[in-house]
Amino acid sequence: MEPRAPHYQDLNEEFNYDKLAIHGNLPSWLEGTLVRNGPAKFTVGERALSHWFDGLAMLHAFSFHGGEVSYCNRYLRSAAYKRVFEKGRLDYEMFAADPCGTRFSRFMTALVRPFSSEKGSIPNANVNVAKIAGEYVALTDLPLPVRFDLSTLGTLGLLEFDDPLRKNRAAGSAHPHYDAKEQATIGYLVEFGRKCRYQFYQIKEGAKLERRVFAQMEVSEPSYMHSFSLTESYAILIEQPLVVNPRKLLLSTRPFIRNFEWRPERGTHFHLFHRQTGKFVGSWVAEPFFFFHTVNAFEEEGVVHVDLFTYKDATAIDAIADFAFADRYPSDAGASKLMRYSLALDGTSITSSTLLPLNVELPRINPAYDARNYTYLYATDLDSPLEQGRGRSLVKIDTKAHTVIPWSQSGCCPGEPLFIAAPGATREDEGVVLAVVLDASGSHTFLLVLDATTFKEVARAEVPLAIPVGLHGEFFERAF
Ligand code: CO
Repeated sequence: MEPRAPHYQDLNEEFNYDKLAIHGNLPSWLEGTLVRNGPAKFTVGERALSHWFDGLAMLHAFSFHGGEVSYCNRYLRSAAYKRVFEKGRLDYEMFAADPCGTRFSRFMTALVRPFSSEKGSIPNANVNVAKIAGEYVALTDLPLPVRFDLSTLGTLGLLEFDDPLRKNRAAGSAHPHYDAKEQATIGYLVEFGRKCRYQFYQIKEGAKLERRVFAQMEVSEPSYMHSFSLTESYAILIEQPLVVNPRKLLLSTRPFIRNFEWRPERGTHFHLFHRQTGKFVGSWVAEPFFFFHTVNAFEEEGVVHVDLFTYKDATAIDAIADFAFADRYPSDAGASKLMRYSLALDGTSITSSTLLPLNVELPRINPAYDARNYTYLYATDLDSPLEQGRGRSLVKIDTKAHTVIPWSQSGCCPGEPLFIAAPGATREDEGVVLAVVLDASGSHTFLLVLDATTFKEVARAEVPLAIPVGLHGEFFERAF
């Protein structure tokens, strides 16, 4: 086998560490559990997956309590986990791993239909985690959240919704928004069938676990979307020109995303819906681009601003997986930039500006500023080569001053930075930023705690394991 790059290292075992060694001073107010999700197994014997996004889901929990930090990790007990660990096979439902793939694909027979899972089987939800109506869940781009126990990370089963909306032959978003004022989780579904629809829904905390649709739109060739935006008044779907013929998708034996076609002549549509009335407000059309992650959106004087990281086209899906290889410097296709699209509400005019031409990903903001005018975001560099003496950076970006503060350490690879506000904070960047950082020598990992204002290290907790760089996570206020 070739040496494994930082994002592609298998972590085969499950561990519990009650007390990590801490350097520096943890803020005394930091109490709760950081749960991170990401792919953590890519090989079975000599066989390997060709795409980062298809590795087996592993959850990691860092719990802060009484000035100490504990760590544990558990694989999600999905149908894919069972195929790999009980049958020694890499033949589960895939998002992107390509039979004709590149470097690591010595073997790949992903002859599994998208949406072919048996009813009730647990998907490989390796993208994100959230708390939905009091339940802790692991998420992927399917409308099938997987419940887990926050104290043990044990898999509990699917989150069963009490509503008639689709569970199968549908896509969802692994990036729901939470509206604290409404105490509601907001997400969308893409229904595939003879008729296809985009549906925005919200889930209120209450007796019934129901996704209530508040806006919808029919579509003939649905787009692949990974995230969406909210403002105080509007829900915004960003329909990029990576689209699928639904009949072909339902009969296909190719991995999910390989059924989608890049159709740049369509441009990228911003569809606005009024959150209170569900009314369709209009569509604004911009040049074609590809994106994974929105950053934020807000209204200002008759204009809706939508900030997101964009790529030239959908080849970014493979480029982002290639980023993981330390010796591959990104092509143009793999370079993201932070863009702002401004939609005039009194017409159809749309303008765009580059906030920063910075090639970073996995953006996070202070969640209290979601859907509001904001200044700061935090992100990570996935693609700089790990040459001697260099590390990949975490960045704090000021969207108004267009400035960047980086943090890096030689040979180190950080994951997504998560902002946690200090109690009673009055400034947007008053709090800490947590990131899991892999020392690329591969022998250990540390949980980094940065002061969010200065972006300087205040503490780190050492984990004597190489934790593969993952995708997304969340901080929950309960500690174990
Ligand atoms: Co994501």
